Amino acid sequence: MRVVVIGATGHIGGYLIPRLVGAGHDVITLSRHARPYYREHASWTQVIKVTVDRDADDAAGTFGRRVADLEADAVVDLICFEPDSARQLVEALRPNGTYLIHCGTIWVHGPSTVVPTTEDAPRRPFGQYGKAKAAIEDFLLKESRGGGLPVAVLHPGHIVGPGWVPVNPAGNIELSVFERLAAGQELALPNLGMETLHHVHADDVAQAFALTVDRPEAAAGESFHVTSERAITLRGYAEAIADLFGQPSRLSMLAWDRWRDTVTEAAAQLTWDHIAHSPSMSIDKARRVLGYNPNYTSLEAIRDSLVWLVANGRLNAPAPPPQSV
Ligand SMILES: NC(=O)c1ccc[n+]([C@@H]2O[C@H](COP(=O)([O-])OP(=O)(O)OC[C@H]3O[C@@H](n4cnc5c(N)ncnc54)[C@H](OP(=O)(O)O)[C@@H]3O)[C@@H](O)[C@H]2O)c1
Repeated sequence: MRVVVIGATGHIGGYLIPRLVGAGHDVITLSRHARPYYREHASWTQVIKVTVDRDADDAAGTFGRRVADLEADAVVDLICFEPDSARQLVEALRPNGTYLIHCGTIWVHGPSTVVPTTEDAPRRPFGQYGKAKAAIEDFLLKESRGGGLPVAVLHPGHIVGPGWVPVNPAGNIELSVFERLAAGQELALPNLGMETLHHVHADDVAQAFALTVDRPEAAAGESFHVTSERAITLRGYAEAIADLFGQPSRLSMLAWDRWRDTVTEAAAQLTWDHIAHSPSMSIDKARRVLGYNPNYTSLEAIRDSLVWLVANGRLNAPAPPPQSV
């Protein structure tokens, strides 16, 4: 298959491109090439690279045509954030019936209700990002189910892996949270620490995209959660990280209004965004329809990030021992 990947050189693409090339697909990668490859791999020498700024092309109304002209069998769109952008691409791909696979987010769901959340749960997104992604999903699935362009939508959880700072047990990305736990220091968590996070390793996200590329008949018109098997609570996560570094966990719990004053405004906002969602997603549909089978639990995926962060001098902590969480 001839596969175009839009936004190919980042975190997901770093794992997806080797999988697609390894599966024998002819791969065309699109990015601005403004940043180095997120992940070096021999497969970068086996793809056709196109340099393009999607934002500029979208504004000029030329992006969809540019992608359509590549005459792909499948297009994987990793960087679509606005309904107009999705619409432009769909209109350009429709004449050829090109199979489109869109990268969404579990934030299309808003706060969890019945958990694990399934794909057919009513959407209640909040925040600009989640609302825009939900609007894109709605447009794409209606297009596909209405007999238009075949489209599948994948919704990753909090992506982690080497090179990436995981959402931490306080629900933000302050590295000091991991450092406190690794040093056996006290850490305050909001509320009872029972809100949830749902991570996924970037390579498992790539696995799901690669499976979806190969299953257009089963996947078109459908959306799928792409997370680890199980979500984790903030408290359980904090305890597991302390344990990973051979330390007891010294946790204290503070009501949100008090806790938020203990961190920066940016950290508080990010934590609120995560705990207000408290995601816990079902991956049963992706397992059943795509054959998705994540290789990492949440804690294994997070450990992979922490090993990299320590080895690269980003995290002031001892190297985690192998496979202890
Ligand atoms: N991060 C998470 O935890 C998370 C969770 C759920 C869903 N998602 C979804 O994952 C997707 C992002 O994937 P990722 O994590 O692989 O992203 P990433 O690591 O930030 O990589 C972004 C890619 O897009 C390219 N790019 C950025 N702006 C561009 C532009 N204007 N024109 C052309 N190329 C551009 C980048 O290369 P250049 O900069 O060189 O152009 C790079 O190849 C999004 O759809 C997001 O909603 C992420």
